[in-house]
Amino acid sequence: MILLGVNIDHCATVRQARYRQAATTSGGPIEPDPVTFALLAERAGADGITVHLREDRRHIQERDVWRLRESIATRLNLEMACTPAMTEFALKLKPDSVCLVPESREEITTEGGLDVVKHRDRVQACVEAMNAAKIATSLFIDPDAPQIELGAQLGAPWIELHTGAYANARENAPRAAEFVRLQSGARLGTQCGLVVNAGHGINYVNIAEVRTLPGLHELNIGHSIVSRALFTGVEEAVREMRARMNA
Ligand code: PXP
Repeated sequence: MILLGVNIDHCATVRQARYRQAATTSGGPIEPDPVTFALLAERAGADGITVHLREDRRHIQERDVWRLRESIATRLNLEMACTPAMTEFALKLKPDSVCLVPESREEITTEGGLDVVKHRDRVQACVEAMNAAKIATSLFIDPDAPQIELGAQLGAPWIELHTGAYANARENAPRAAEFVRLQSGARLGTQCGLVVNAGHGINYVNIAEVRTLPGLHELNIGHSIVSRALFTGVEEAVREMRARMNA
C-alpha cells in the first residue's frame, strides 16, 4: 500500500490571487481555505498533508501552517528551505516531518533536487537539529547515487525522489531513461536503509507507471489533485488518486 501525502500549496495559490493581504493577517471569510481543503482530503483518505512555506510566502502563509498543526488528524509534512530561519520555525511548529527542498525566488515551482553534496554542512546541521527534536527529515533529491548515499550518511531517515525530470519529459525515450534512473535510485535508497518517497509532477496518468517504483512508501502529490478538485471536488479527486496509486 503506497501512502498519499496531499500537497495543498495550490489551494493557497488560488486564494492569494485575490486575498493576498487578508490571508496573512486576519483571515476571515476568504476562500478557498487550505485548511478546509486539507480536512476534506483527510476525509477522503489522505495519509498526510504537505505544505511548502516558501521564503517569498507566495502561497502558504505561516498562519496556515499553524492552523493545520491544530486541525489535521493525519501527519503534517513541512517542505522548507534548509536555512537557519526555517529550521527555527520548524522546531517551534514541530511538524511530523520536514522535507528539505532547494528554493530559488525565480522558479515557478521547485525545479530540481536539493544538492546534498554541495550543501553538506547546512543539510547536516538541519538533519541533526530535527533528529534531536524527533522530527523525521526527508531529503528531496534527484535519484543519483552520491546524493542518496550521502543523505543516508548524514542520518536523514527518509528521501523523496524528485520525479520532475521524468514527469516533464515529453518524448518516450528520455522519459523511459528517467524512469530507469528513478528505479535505480529507489532500489539504492532502500539498500541504504532509507524510507523512499517520491514526488513532483505526478498526475492521474503517469501514476500508473510511478506506482511501480520499487519499495515506495509515500507519494506527495499536489498540482494534479488541486486541479482535478476544481471539477470533481476535493474528496473525489483524492479518492481517485488513491485508487490509481494502489490499483
Ligand atoms: N514534493 C516536493 C518536495 C515538492 O516541492 C512539490 C512541489 O511543491 C511536490 C512534491 C508536489 O509537486 P506537484 O505539485 O507537481 O504534485
